[in-house]
Amino acid sequence: MGIGCDRNLLFIVKRVDARPTFMTTSSAPGKIILFGEHAVVYGRPALAVPVTQVHANVDVSDSARAGIWIDAPDVDLHAEVNTLPSDHPIASVINNLFFLLRVSPFPDLEIKIASTIPVASGLGSGAAVTVALTRALVSHLNDSMTDEEVNAFTYEIEKIHHGTPSGIDNTVITYAKPVYFVKSPSSPERRRDGGEVEIFKVGQPFTIVIADTGISAPTRESVGDVRRLWMNDRARWETIFDKIGEISFTARRAIEAGKPELLGELMNENHALLQRLTISSPELDGLVEAARAAGALGAKLSGGGRGGNMIALVESEKAETVSLSLKEAGAKNTIITRVS
Ligand code: MEV
Repeated sequence: MGIGCDRNLLFIVKRVDARPTFMTTSSAPGKIILFGEHAVVYGRPALAVPVTQVHANVDVSDSARAGIWIDAPDVDLHAEVNTLPSDHPIASVINNLFFLLRVSPFPDLEIKIASTIPVASGLGSGAAVTVALTRALVSHLNDSMTDEEVNAFTYEIEKIHHGTPSGIDNTVITYAKPVYFVKSPSSPERRRDGGEVEIFKVGQPFTIVIADTGISAPTRESVGDVRRLWMNDRARWETIFDKIGEISFTARRAIEAGKPELLGELMNENHALLQRLTISSPELDGLVEAARAAGALGAKLSGGGRGGNMIALVESEKAETVSLSLKEAGAKNTIITRVS
């Protein structure tokens, strides 16, 4: 068993001989894509920021009973890891990590997973659970992994569950900082964590309202649909990806220059291009319109699309008004977050 992590990782981590004796906790934030989703899968730049108002928490402790017991009440999962299918998201993290760390025999553990990040909503719930679970297990085993190694490992897990992810979700969640991300070309140049990441400075903090359509929309499906469009008419969609990439580039410059007000129009342009890519939906469009009508400087869907979340750039004093309008327009939940 084992995923395709670079063999070099095996030299970086130590063999684990000591039995753990304590409880270990780790937490990872959610994320939003500000600009560039989907085009980033095709090598264009994208911008993403962590959302610390939601997070995945993992506690690992020694167990008095044999086996590795998972307790994840949010997804109604209470099971011993060997009873789960090997491609189950939690089982695949544990089995592949222990393979990578050469943990043998597996220790007896209790693992509690609690997440406030809605599943399949574009906020990175899967990657956040993987990052928190990986860090909690590594620390519990008295081992260590660098951020780069955690990122590379999480990218491999993302590939099992999401097909052809760009790597931006695992990257922003691992580093918990705003990132400007460009996917690397295919091997041999490809980096283990999926791409080139630049952590950029936010010249002046700005406020984003996030609104959830409440519609569960797996990223794998919308990414697959975009791929089919692209296969049928590459020239047409490459032009759209170029335009989205230019928006991400311009947005980064505006953020660094402390001119976040320029992001509103860029969000509107990005949303229009995502509509042309067919990955918006009446519910997302409705919330985008509602945010603009309530005084947002701009709005767009965020993440895989079809459902999940949209984001709106607002002046901070208008955040509550826009949030209320989004709820009146049908949002199941809203989050006000400050990007700094
Ligand atoms: C998902 O958060 C962002 C997408 O661009 C997919 C990816 O980059 O892997 C839709």
